[in-house]
Amino acid sequence: MGTPVTLIPGDGIGPSISSATVRVLEAAGADIDFDVQVAGMAGVTRYGDPIPEATLDSIRRTRIALKGPLETPVGEGFRSINVALRKTFDLYANVRPAHTIVKGGRYDDIDIVLIRENTEGLYVGIEHYIKIGNDPRAAAESIAIITRAGSERIVRYAFDYAMKHGRKKVTIVHKANILKFSQGLFLDVGRMIAREYANIEFNEMIVDATAMNLVLKPEKFDVIVTTNLFGDILSDQISGLVGGLGLAPGGNIGLGGAIFEAVHGTAPDIAGKGVANPSALILAACMMLEYMNDGERAVRIRSALETTIREGKTVTGDLGGSASTDQFTDAIIARL
Ligand code: NAI
Repeated sequence: MGTPVTLIPGDGIGPSISSATVRVLEAAGADIDFDVQVAGMAGVTRYGDPIPEATLDSIRRTRIALKGPLETPVGEGFRSINVALRKTFDLYANVRPAHTIVKGGRYDDIDIVLIRENTEGLYVGIEHYIKIGNDPRAAAESIAIITRAGSERIVRYAFDYAMKHGRKKVTIVHKANILKFSQGLFLDVGRMIAREYANIEFNEMIVDATAMNLVLKPEKFDVIVTTNLFGDILSDQISGLVGGLGLAPGGNIGLGGAIFEAVHGTAPDIAGKGVANPSALILAACMMLEYMNDGERAVRIRSALETTIREGKTVTGDLGGSASTDQFTDAIIARL
């Protein structure tokens, strides 16, 4: 029996890029038993719930999920699906790798992994308006929560990730010069943990300087670890350095399990046309294989994917080609 994994194909282009990804995994001989579950609009259609209990139960059992993009239904009563999943399974580390596949673009040599704290900071949802005189919304307050325990586990995750993946340097990104308490605590904890990892170079950088240096000298960065809001912004910036979200995978990892996903959305403009690029979800599946200690297979799939993209003959429209999702997938499989 293979490793059980929950597969959430997703909405829009989700089912098409998911079946492409499953085909690649099967061709590579990955020993996985997929339990297919729904969420998002597909969840609403089947169960009247964007995060059905059956889907949560499946992830509780498998503790690993591969997820296509989901459409969060508009209207009262529906939570953000991604935030709900993160909270339910305490997925505290958001891992966003980005590296140059096709040289000759603006940057040739980028290989950065951004690790974002996923559960604290300004995104804890403690917000309110303050009434002054007759104006009920005269002011607004959003509170950032940083804890020692939360900082410790994310910084430790970043260093452990660096060790496991043969990386040389961890940069902690902060704004402790202004937010002396919350960001100050995060930085203090970071410095303390860094001392335990003598083999990994440690560097600290203020977030505004980081934004500039990522554009000027991105090759100086290796692993970056930062708090929730800064991580949200910088991870998309880093995807932009290597050509946008189309090739960007992400992992949400915690004690309760791990969910791997494509960073892009459901692409409603091309859904159902058979032309979506499955690369981001295939790369997310490679992160999943690494998480399952099947790194050798991940390397093989990534190499087949990257060679196909670099060759440029059988690629989808967003990559400058004219191949369908299926033709592109066949070309990757042929290289395995
Ligand atoms: P989007 O990422 O779906 O689309 C932006 C543009 O990129 C579109 O032109 C689309 O065709 C293109 N694109 C995206 N992925 C592609 C792929 N794999 N191959 C080729 N072209 C691709 O972003 P948008 O339009 O802002 O959001 C659409 C829906 O997706 C919304 O309902 C949103 O809530 C949802 N969404 C879901 C996410 C998730 O579940 N992780 C993340 C982002 C958005």
